[in-house]
Amino acid sequence: MKSYRSGPATERIEHRAFTLDDCESFYHLNSHPEVMRYTGEPPLRSLMDARRAIADYPDFETVGFGRWACVLKDTGAVIGFCGLKYLPELEEVDVGFRFFPEYWGQGIATETCSACIAFGFEVLKLDRILGLVLTENKASIRVLEKCGLTQNGEVTYDGERALKYEIIRAARGGA
Ligand SMILES: CC(C)(COP(=O)(O)OP(=O)(O)OC[C@H]1O[C@@H](n2cnc3c(N)ncnc32)[C@H](O)[C@@H]1OP(=O)(O)O)[C@@H](O)C(=O)NCCC(=O)NCCS
Repeated sequence: MKSYRSGPATERIEHRAFTLDDCESFYHLNSHPEVMRYTGEPPLRSLMDARRAIADYPDFETVGFGRWACVLKDTGAVIGFCGLKYLPELEEVDVGFRFFPEYWGQGIATETCSACIAFGFEVLKLDRILGLVLTENKASIRVLEKCGLTQNGEVTYDGERALKYEIIRAARGGA
């Protein structure tokens, strides 16, 4: 199995695996109340938690892909994450994204999410990609819709009821 520690590059963003050097930005992102509000995940409580989360992230070794750090090409700053995650409970892959608020509203999530979906279909040869989102998360729903996902029911994931969005490879014209 090939391990894709680097993901797609877009006009503004490079995708790569988080390393322990990203500990501080990873911590600030994943403990920011506005960022975490509709994610259904508890915020990180310490830099130590962030170190552990990065060090113990197995996905690149176990399935070959995962959530990538999004690096703004202009500055080299880590401004969030975007990527594909295998969900063993559902035996599906979902696309997820999260950015610092100062970067919201510039089309960055749409740019990274659509690049990750293309990577999933063209490189990883996935048949379907999901987007799981809480009903209240209107911005995220909008991003998924702009990337071509459509709602297909609901799902319980991590004990939370979420809307299930999906995009099928065949429906994209055989990419
Ligand atoms: C969701 C998130 C990634 C969007 O990032 P972004 O870079 O601002 O997204 P984009 O600029 O590509 O697109 C956002 C779209 O949502 C729309 N939007 C923003 N807030 C909205 C709201 N409250 N209601 C409806 N639409 C909204 C924007 O107008 C834009 O749509 P448009 O291009 O048609 O105008 C960002 O808000 C974030 O990091 N949120 C916190 C983490 C999170 O919830 N992640 C998703 C978990 S499923």
